[in-house]
Amino acid sequence: MNLHPNPIDAEQLRSCAAAALQCNRRDLSIRRWEIGPGRRSACAWGQVFDKPFFSKTLLKDPFPVMLPVVAPWEEDFGSVLRSPAEQIETEWHTNLRLFRIAGPESVPTPLGKSIAHRTIVWEDVGGVRVDELFKRHLLLDSQTPAVTAALTRAGEWLRHLQQRSGGGFATLNLQDVVEQMRARLALGGSDSTRRVHHALQILQEAFAEIPSSELTVRTVLGHGDFTLANMRWNAAKERLYVVDFENFAPAHECQDLLSLIFEMRTRLLNPLVSKRSVMALENAFWSGYGPASRPIMSFIHGIASARILYFHLPQALQKRKQQGGISRATASVYSRFLAPAMLARCMEGM
Ligand SMILES: Nc1ncnc2c1ncn2[C@@H]1O[C@H](COP(=O)(O)OP(=O)(O)OP(=O)(O)O)[C@@H](O)[C@H]1O
Ligand SMILES: [Mg+2]
Repeated sequence: MNLHPNPIDAEQLRSCAAAALQCNRRDLSIRRWEIGPGRRSACAWGQVFDKPFFSKTLLKDPFPVMLPVVAPWEEDFGSVLRSPAEQIETEWHTNLRLFRIAGPESVPTPLGKSIAHRTIVWEDVGGVRVDELFKRHLLLDSQTPAVTAALTRAGEWLRHLQQRSGGGFATLNLQDVVEQMRARLALGGSDSTRRVHHALQILQEAFAEIPSSELTVRTVLGHGDFTLANMRWNAAKERLYVVDFENFAPAHECQDLLSLIFEMRTRLLNPLVSKRSVMALENAFWSGYGPASRPIMSFIHGIASARILYFHLPQALQKRKQQGGISRATASVYSRFLAPAMLARCMEGM
């Protein structure tokens, strides 16, 4: 079967899942399928005998693996290339490893893989994506108990992973972070200069709370892409499932924390979203995670807020300009009136 050229279809995905499960394709049906936003893979949901399954089939060769962003000045998610075989093996083995650490209550059970068909199959854990819950909650003020419970579990999950995997220590040089930010400020650019300046100010204020210019953090195993899109909330079972382990690797303890806090705070760029709601959800996460030291909290606050100003705010403005229609027409209004308000929202203590 010629798998590679897109478009792929449901019948091909059915054959891929059957190969991964080593069963006859007659025993298996596909209920729904979709191609991921980056067109890197196709996901399918179906049944094998009576069991619901979820499959992922890689579409790109070589396969680009996105790297997590950990600094406020990183403009883009870098990527590394892996062969599809390498990618399937990596995701399979990291999944097994996490499965052993976290257990079947929060990590989907892997059911089978096929290197030739570039496919992995898991149990379908049901539920809904937490990023969808989060958006609905912030914009419609609905789903509050579900999203609060999901985020509390997310905090507990991360703490558990870090406790089970901790080993050594790493030292983060805060002065380097500030210097890099200063270097960006020196590059100039009228409109952005003010934002970079504020980003620098946020970093400096946050780092002033840290007694030394170096921060020692624990080295742990990191999920690597700890975002709301990679979590599912199953309300019937009251369980949070964490998925997508392609970037699972040794990390320092702030990396997964930063990914999630970045993501939650970027919602502040939507003027319809109340800061109180975002903070309530951030607090739900911290209540599950438990106490973090003051220097670590200051580090995370500084980097996450600086990144919104330095990176996400200009990106949101640019997107509006490119969208055309009403978005384009409102872009300059947004830029003149709302952007400064956003700046103030991000700069006030979180
Ligand atoms: N075991 C599962 N059961 C049900 N749904 C799942 C399962 N695993 C993942 N999903 C859903 O499928 C979506 C895509 O899965 P995943 O995050 O693993 O792919 P991805 O690598 O991000 O894909 P792409 O990069 O192509 O977007 C997730 O957002 C998740 O909600
Ligand atoms: Mg994902």
